[in-house]
Amino acid sequence: MLTFVALASVLLLGIVPEQTEGIAIYTGWERHALLGSDIRLSCSFFSWRMTSEDVTFSWTYRPDGSRDSISIFHYGGGVAYVDNKGPFRDRVEFVGNPSRRDGSILIKNLDYNDNGTFTCDAKNPPDIVGRPSSVRLLVFEKVPIQAGVITGAIIGVVLGLLVLIVVIYYLMRFLVARRVFSLSVSKHGKKKKEGSQARQGPVPPADPTKVKAAASEKKKQESRKDKK
Ligand SMILES: *[C@@H]1O[C@H](CO)[C@@H](O)[C@H](O)[C@H]1NC(C)=O
Repeated sequence: MLTFVALASVLLLGIVPEQTEGIAIYTGWERHALLGSDIRLSCSFFSWRMTSEDVTFSWTYRPDGSRDSISIFHYGGGVAYVDNKGPFRDRVEFVGNPSRRDGSILIKNLDYNDNGTFTCDAKNPPDIVGRPSSVRLLVFEKVPIQAGVITGAIIGVVLGLLVLIVVIYYLMRFLVARRVFSLSVSKHGKKKKEGSQARQGPVPPADPTKVKAAASEKKKQESRKDKK
């Protein structure tokens, strides 16, 4: 895969590495893991040479806040040597495949103090010149809340508040409108009663559309008054 990417970039972009002799080593950049879990730290390399039988991989570890690195793993001559007295004693396993240029290791049962930088160096004789690559490991006690989740929650809360405000606004408007309506209706009804008493004749049944029209007319008048 890396070979393909490198070849493709050479062909498509005309990028020719400055040194065609030499080895480029790749690890991740940063890894997060949970306390007590296992993590695979991958290491691969690109070399213009065929994969040598004498390919070697070595991993060192530098704890956070420390200046010194310690060797925790070495592969060479077909044999994998693991840390047998350091902090990763019995916790490192070789899971790579040297013939596929893969020098990955597995760190088991992660401890709270495993935070630090893991550096992988590889050699593919006669390609031995290359810069080691480092990956930072952070061990968390619980699943860290990701930035995306926080952003999502904030957006959700803001949207929810907006919807609530809009709903309250329309509810208030609706209630106010209904109160005005019922007030004007009751006033209207009173007037009508007085009028009928004065006339002392049979009262024609109230036409609801007329009542409504009168009410809205009244509202209009009121709002006009308000404007003045
Ligand atoms: C390891 O790193 C994580 C993330 O930065 C931090 O929460 C934790 O406290 C660190 N552990 C130690 C022992 O410092």
